Amino acid sequence: MKYDFTSVIDRRGKDAMAVDAVGKFPGLMAPEDGFDFIPMWVADMNFATVPTVQSAVAERLAHPTFGYFITRNEYYQAIMDWQEKRNAVKGLRKECIGYENGVLGGVVSALNAFATPGDAILVHSPTYIGFTGSIQNAGYKIVHSPLKQDEDGVWRMNYEDMDVKIKKNKIHVAVFCNPHNPTGRVWEKEELEKALEVYRNNDCIVISDEIWSDIVLNGHHHIPLQSVNEDARNRVIALYAPSKTFNLAGLIGSYHIIYNSYLRDRVRACSSKSHYNSINMLSMYALIGAYSSEGMEWVDELQDVLSENVNYAYDFIMKNFDGVTLSKPEGTYMLFLDCRKWCEAHHAEVGDLLKAGQKVGVGWQDGRPFHGEHSIRMNLALPFTRVQEALERLNKHVFQNT
Ligand SMILES: Cc1ncc(COP(=O)(O)O)c(C=O)c1O
Repeated sequence: MKYDFTSVIDRRGKDAMAVDAVGKFPGLMAPEDGFDFIPMWVADMNFATVPTVQSAVAERLAHPTFGYFITRNEYYQAIMDWQEKRNAVKGLRKECIGYENGVLGGVVSALNAFATPGDAILVHSPTYIGFTGSIQNAGYKIVHSPLKQDEDGVWRMNYEDMDVKIKKNKIHVAVFCNPHNPTGRVWEKEELEKALEVYRNNDCIVISDEIWSDIVLNGHHHIPLQSVNEDARNRVIALYAPSKTFNLAGLIGSYHIIYNSYLRDRVRACSSKSHYNSINMLSMYALIGAYSSEGMEWVDELQDVLSENVNYAYDFIMKNFDGVTLSKPEGTYMLFLDCRKWCEAHHAEVGDLLKAGQKVGVGWQDGRPFHGEHSIRMNLALPFTRVQEALERLNKHVFQNT
């Protein structure tokens, strides 16, 4: 490997929520003596970002003026090149790209453009916790259409249920997650087509969160929802960011792609009203450094590293953790463990299992706020040795396999 995905970086004291919130955030217990903490919860990575991010920011920092600025053409060009090379997007123009202060901020602006507080919004469940918080905080009512696991354990959409719920609740805006957090599904073309048919038949605008688009594993490919057909191009508001891909969440800096000028004008009208939705100069340089040829190589390597972690963890868990089932993620670096059988066998709640792991330093996360009744979410974006260590600890101390 050209880049370093094996060094264990000490993030303590460097403002990282993943490690500095331990013992301070509810539900995140500090480990007992003798165990160090392994961060496996909030969705960021324990890898150094691609060096071109730091060099691009450092180079600009060396110049001593930081006054009002304009977004460089390279910023837009980097996004157009990235989307073309990574996602086979053709014909993306600068005018279709717009800065967003976070993907969730973009979701809320888009909701405000096409719905009124009190309106129902269709979202699949299990659901990313950030959707629940931001959609409800903005005053909307979430209607869930549950994903269901098929006979092979693969999470699938239920198109009939989506259609019924949309009609019943007079829904005209849906939030879609592609790839899906927390199940790790990388939706296939046929699935996207069927979902789009339901949205089209019901006059639904779709806000497609594609923040995980670069984190696809084991040869899976991301398909932008907008690229599925001409109707989708005009129906879908897509949100992207380099933050998940390159571990840049602390720098803030997401963007939308909206082809249809009416949708675009409405979203921009809403997002501009707060006067907060402005790019930070350093985050602009971070994106340019990330969306570079080095960044592409780095992401290729990252995908291999994460695939190896996921494959190892999946096999280990299926072999050793009695009462835990799991659908192997195709994208993201999250496992969504179903611990129902363990809970039943131990007359316990998922919270008990969670605590038992946290005691020995495994900082996994409660899956219940993600609408997984007996679930635990586990972040695998760590050097392989740390993933191994966490699983060994769980095996020995929690599942009591010697
Ligand atoms: C699906 C999804 N959307 C959005 C976000 C957060 O994006 P942002 O920090 O840009 O608001 C996350 C973070 O985990 C996520 O998983």
